[in-house]
Amino acid sequence: MTEEIREQPKKRMLSGIKPSGDLTLGSYLGAIRNWGARSEEFDCFYFMADLHAITVRQNPADLRRRTLEQLAQYIACGLDPEKNTLFIQSQVPQHAELGWVLNCYAMFGELSRMTQFKDKSAKNADNINGGLFTYPSLMAADILLYQPDYVPVGEDQKQHVELCHTIARRFNGIYGDVFKLPEPYVPKVGARIMSLTNPTAKMSKSENEDTGRVLLMDTPETIMRQFKRAITDSDTENCVHYDKEKKPGVSNLMTIYSACTGKSYAEIEQEFAGCGYGKFKPAVGETVVETLRPIREEAQRIMKDKAYLESVYKEGARRASFVAEKTMRKVYKKVGFIGR
Ligand code: TYM
Repeated sequence: MTEEIREQPKKRMLSGIKPSGDLTLGSYLGAIRNWGARSEEFDCFYFMADLHAITVRQNPADLRRRTLEQLAQYIACGLDPEKNTLFIQSQVPQHAELGWVLNCYAMFGELSRMTQFKDKSAKNADNINGGLFTYPSLMAADILLYQPDYVPVGEDQKQHVELCHTIARRFNGIYGDVFKLPEPYVPKVGARIMSLTNPTAKMSKSENEDTGRVLLMDTPETIMRQFKRAITDSDTENCVHYDKEKKPGVSNLMTIYSACTGKSYAEIEQEFAGCGYGKFKPAVGETVVETLRPIREEAQRIMKDKAYLESVYKEGARRASFVAEKTMRKVYKKVGFIGR
């Protein structure tokens, strides 16, 4: 492994998810699903972004539980720890170190313009802390430490990857080519899965069940219930048409169906021609149940083996630190710190 990293024979991919809530169908279709199939082609690094999670107040026991569950779910989604470096962000101290340095190269105005900062500040008006504000510098550090070529994310994270470019360009402009500028890699279908009950809002893991989210670990009964009560519109027949503006609820269901089956919107319209929502909604529900069933069963099995999970995250942190430290040394030297 050490030799592989040194030679960098493959292009590199990196991404992470905050364990701030249980993983949803949105996290899966927008992100993890696109990571899984890549390990033959790319040198992949995926992590649990627990440092980011505490920008919103967390219950410590829940955070610990979710971090481990998330690791088990990554593996159950097909990320083989032998072929992918899976790690916990807080166990690789270089993230916090580079995050601080990059804070000094991120401008107040740039950080203030981030949509996620504005949204989260509105939702957590009593806790608009410094971490929430400087979140994008830490995310830039997460990325730049590993010099990846691609960062696979959903639509909502694109702005952060763009700011990462701005920061990296500024730093490189002063000190020479220290950081590689990675491309965001956003899926064509599934980059923005909406809530089933409010299709104008993103399906989010930090909301409760009533907000129309489906979790990776939900039982088939819960999933079917959520899809049956999904908001559509008042059309009754021949209503399965893709129109994001006029029919956001149906279009969201079609996106989910398309992402799970690989069928195009035209094929789906044809399949359900003449049908009402009474037939379409349960059909989407069943497809999701079958997509998630093997993941849920495998994750439950892996969760029971705590020793295995520990061996995975320890080895992951070791491999990640090896790569991260190389970048960190270079950065510290460039900015004028005495080597450690
Ligand atoms: P997070 O934890 O909010 O989301 C994790 C990933 O899932 C995608 N996603 C969605 N995609 C489609 N539809 C949805 N409803 C949906 N909800 C979430 C997100 O776009 C994301 O790709 N800041 C990041 C975590 C992070 C990170 C990084 C990512 C920290 N450092 C470095 C990449 C590289 C976040 O909060 O994602």
